[in-house]
Amino acid sequence: MTAIDDSTARDADALRAGMVRALRDQDSITSEPVAAAFAAVPRHRFAPGAPLELAYDLHCTVPVKKDEHGLDISVMSAAHLQGVMLEQADIKPGMKVLEIGSGGYNAALIQELVGDHGMVTTADIDHDVIDRARRCLDDAGYRQVKTVLADGESGVPDSAPYDRIIVTAAAWDIPASWINGLTKNGRLVVPLTVHGTTRSIAFDREGDGLLSRSYRLARFVPMQGEGAAREERKVLLRDGVAVQTDDARVNLLPEALNHALGMPRLVRWSGAAYDLPDELELYLTLNLPTVARLHASTDVVESGLVEASALLGVPALVSEDSIAYRTRREDRDTDGFESGVVAHGPQAEALADQYVELLRRWAQNHRRRGAAEIRYLPGPAPSPLLEDAVPKRHGVVTVTWH
Ligand SMILES: C[S@@+](CC[C@H](N)C(=O)[O-])C[C@H]1O[C@@H](n2cnc3c(N)ncnc32)[C@H](O)[C@@H]1O
Repeated sequence: MTAIDDSTARDADALRAGMVRALRDQDSITSEPVAAAFAAVPRHRFAPGAPLELAYDLHCTVPVKKDEHGLDISVMSAAHLQGVMLEQADIKPGMKVLEIGSGGYNAALIQELVGDHGMVTTADIDHDVIDRARRCLDDAGYRQVKTVLADGESGVPDSAPYDRIIVTAAAWDIPASWINGLTKNGRLVVPLTVHGTTRSIAFDREGDGLLSRSYRLARFVPMQGEGAAREERKVLLRDGVAVQTDDARVNLLPEALNHALGMPRLVRWSGAAYDLPDELELYLTLNLPTVARLHASTDVVESGLVEASALLGVPALVSEDSIAYRTRREDRDTDGFESGVVAHGPQAEALADQYVELLRRWAQNHRRRGAAEIRYLPGPAPSPLLEDAVPKRHGVVTVTWH
């Protein structure tokens, strides 16, 4: 080893120890085995060419491959999210685990968790990515991890059934191969996108379907191949303002909605607390009768046309010619925030009333972490569709609110 290699290894060890401490402090890591795995695997060896500080940053992804538009199609996931998902997965020594969406690092962490008597298979649809993962795994000493070039939509049946399947690309749906590829008590951890919002959900098998044990906010590159989201529609209303939906009930008319945006705004305050934004977002997304996501650029927000809530996308209630979405303001009485609605268009009053009602219902009845119990039921959607049910290609997502 040269002097430079030596000092790099020392820097990496120090950065890794700091990363593990910080992940524990922020509760991304809550168990000893996951902490030990993160301490053991040299993360920087899976990010060759990247600065050490980037490789060991808690919240940054490390780019691996981009598409022709310069958008990431493969990254090394952020360490905090990997910690959260491995805690959700609750992997024990000796288990057989499949990872769909590869890079090598997460597979190495899983190998640490299953130990010498366990088995890890990691699959990627992209040959560049899987070749790179193979090289990194070998280089870091994880030769026993099996790498497979495959579209994960069909699972990897050769080694099934798995005790755990962990998906690391945003999935629009859950194919039967994932459910059937699990052991009877198996667990699937998947970043599932429902009406444009994604949560990493830990699902246990329940009969033919799945029942959630936990869900956490997650952001991932999209699934490619057979399982890619084909149902998403996105329209630009004007420069810097877009509306996106996969809700079949929504008739997206960009000209009418842009005209609505040009009309004076109606603002309604709910009198209800605004906090736990990711919980509220999930509730709104699943309960608005016709749901889309409104996105606005910084310029548009600074111009005052659209509220800052739309910077990362906000659940919107849309009719053909009107739109309503959530906002917030400081509440001096509580030192917190109050939720409210901004609505535009001829139906602004009606949409604002419906939206405010949901904000109040959430604050009164469901304002807590983990209020949603999410089920996935494979097979054709029942007709008429139950309230709180979201039809997918291979089944239905249903949610019960506690
Ligand atoms: C966020 S990256 C995976 C990160 C990785 N797990 C790690 O260790 O950091 C997502 C990966 O999913 C892959 N992917 C997308 N669609 C896929 C599919 N249908 N089947 C298998 N892999 C897929 C992409 O090629 C990409 O490499």
